[in-house]
Amino acid sequence: MSPIRVLPATAVLMFSLNGTAIAADPAAPPQKAAPAAKGADTTKLQRGKYLVKIAGCNDCHTPGYLMLAGKVDEKLWLTGDSFGWRGPWGTTYAANLRQYFGKITEEQWVKIARSIETRPPMPWFTVREMAEDDLRAIYVYAKSLGPAGGPAPASVPADQDPKPPYALFPSPPPKK
Ligand code: HEC
Repeated sequence: MSPIRVLPATAVLMFSLNGTAIAADPAAPPQKAAPAAKGADTTKLQRGKYLVKIAGCNDCHTPGYLMLAGKVDEKLWLTGDSFGWRGPWGTTYAANLRQYFGKITEEQWVKIARSIETRPPMPWFTVREMAEDDLRAIYVYAKSLGPAGGPAPASVPADQDPKPPYALFPSPPPKK
C-alpha cells in the first residue's frame, strides 16, 4: 500500500487520543502528557493518568485535591499531603508518591503492590487487586511526572495529638 493510506490513519489516531484526553478532563492543559512521553508508550501513560484520577490516588496523595474538586495543577499531583488521618492506628499522612516511585523500579512496584499493607485510610487492599497492566500504567505515569515536593510528615503515634488539620476516624466496626 502507498504511504498515503497510512498517514491519514495515524492522523485519526492522534486526533482521537487527543479528543479523549480533552473530554475526560477539560481542565487539563491540552496534550501535556503526550509530548512528555519521549518515545514511551503514550497510551500506557494516559491510562496511568486516568487511573491516578479515578482510582482515588490523587484524592489523598495530592494536596487539596478533594477540597478543590480535582482542580489542582498536575505539577503537584502525587506529591503527598500534610493533612492527617487520625484513628486508632495513630495519625497517618499520604506519602509523596513522586519520590516513592522515583526510588523503585517498575518490577519492584508490581511485586510490592501484590502484598502491600499500610495503615488506614490507604486502600492497600484495592491496590492488591489491580490488574498488572494498571499497576504498570500507574508507575509509568507517576514516574513521568518526576520527583517533586518534600516527604509527607512522619506518622504520629495513637497516644499523641497531631497538628491540625486532620480527620478523626472512629474505631472500625466489629469484623463480621
Ligand atoms: C483515602 C486516602 C488514600 C487513597 C485514596 C490512596 N492512598 Fe495511598 N496512602 C494513604 C496514606 C494515609 C498512606 C500512608 C499509610 C501509612 O503511613 O501507613 C498511603 C501510603 C501509600 C503507599 C506506601 C508509601 C510508602 O512510603 O510505603 C503507596 C505505595 C500508596 N499509598 C499508593 C497509592 C496508590 C497507587 C493509590 C491509588 C490507587 C493510593 N495510594 C490511594 C492514603 C491514601
